[in-house]
Amino acid sequence: MSLRFAGRVAIVTGAASGIGAAIAERLAADGADVVVADLQAGPASAVATALAGRHGVRTLGIGCDVGDEAQVSACVAATMTTFGRLDIIVNNAGLMTFKTLAQWTADDWLAVLRVDLLGADFFTQQAFLHMGEAGGVIINIASVHAVETSANMAPYAAAKAAMVSLTRSTAIEGRDRNIRANAVLPGAIDTPMLWRNPNLRSGVETLDRRDVGQPEDVAAAVAFLASDDAKFITGTTLAVDGGRLAKL
Ligand SMILES: NC(=O)c1ccc[n+]([C@@H]2O[C@H](COP(=O)([O-])OP(=O)(O)OC[C@H]3O[C@@H](n4cnc5c(N)ncnc54)[C@H](O)[C@@H]3O)[C@@H](O)[C@H]2O)c1
Repeated sequence: MSLRFAGRVAIVTGAASGIGAAIAERLAADGADVVVADLQAGPASAVATALAGRHGVRTLGIGCDVGDEAQVSACVAATMTTFGRLDIIVNNAGLMTFKTLAQWTADDWLAVLRVDLLGADFFTQQAFLHMGEAGGVIINIASVHAVETSANMAPYAAAKAAMVSLTRSTAIEGRDRNIRANAVLPGAIDTPMLWRNPNLRSGVETLDRRDVGQPEDVAAAVAFLASDDAKFITGTTLAVDGGRLAKL
């Protein structure tokens, strides 16, 4: 039986760590050639090399700041030069910072929006420029903070909500191009980002054991949305949160 992503090429951003690394692993295990794009070039290359060794697919590790339009174009150009096609983009790289509403500066806001929103938009534009006639899939890793949030993280919550809106716009404009776009809303996932969260340390946000999922839980949802099993699913959101959003 052939693997479901055999012959397809995926870019995963922020893939040197946490959820992005698990998504890259899952897509490679299912046969995709994978571009591991991350701010940290060294770890991106190391993850790419390890994936190729474990799964026998072709990989490329690239240093790329998703908030820098020229670096995003260069990343996609390198993908096209190396693999000659682009089928799946997972906009996973994210930045989360914490201040009160009285403390945020315009530069703080712009720094978060640049990575969490514009980064996804830059890659979306590249998808429309480079995905072929068969189209492709874009998956935006937003957050439960797109729909409910906590104190001290207004730019992050606003960027993730806007990312869901970008997903809808992409789905609408993508219909004629066979480009599907969906957003995944992870809840609390066991990664370095979760445990750096000062709201957890201060008690502003509380979690119980059942609220914490694994990066592989998000990767499984991404693999489904990227697959042909989801061919009629576009413009929507999928929460991967163990039911956290459902409770009062
Ligand atoms: N961990 C959670 O609980 C959780 C919950 C909801 C949403 N998310 C989202 O999931 C995504 C991944 O988070 P994670 O928990 O795996 O974080 P992480 O800190 O473990 O990994 C993030 C990766 O993104 C990279 N990165 C950061 N800024 C970048 C940039 N400008 N360009 C390219 N790469 C960049 C980092 O180098 C790192 O490798 C983020 O978008 C985050 O907002 C995480």
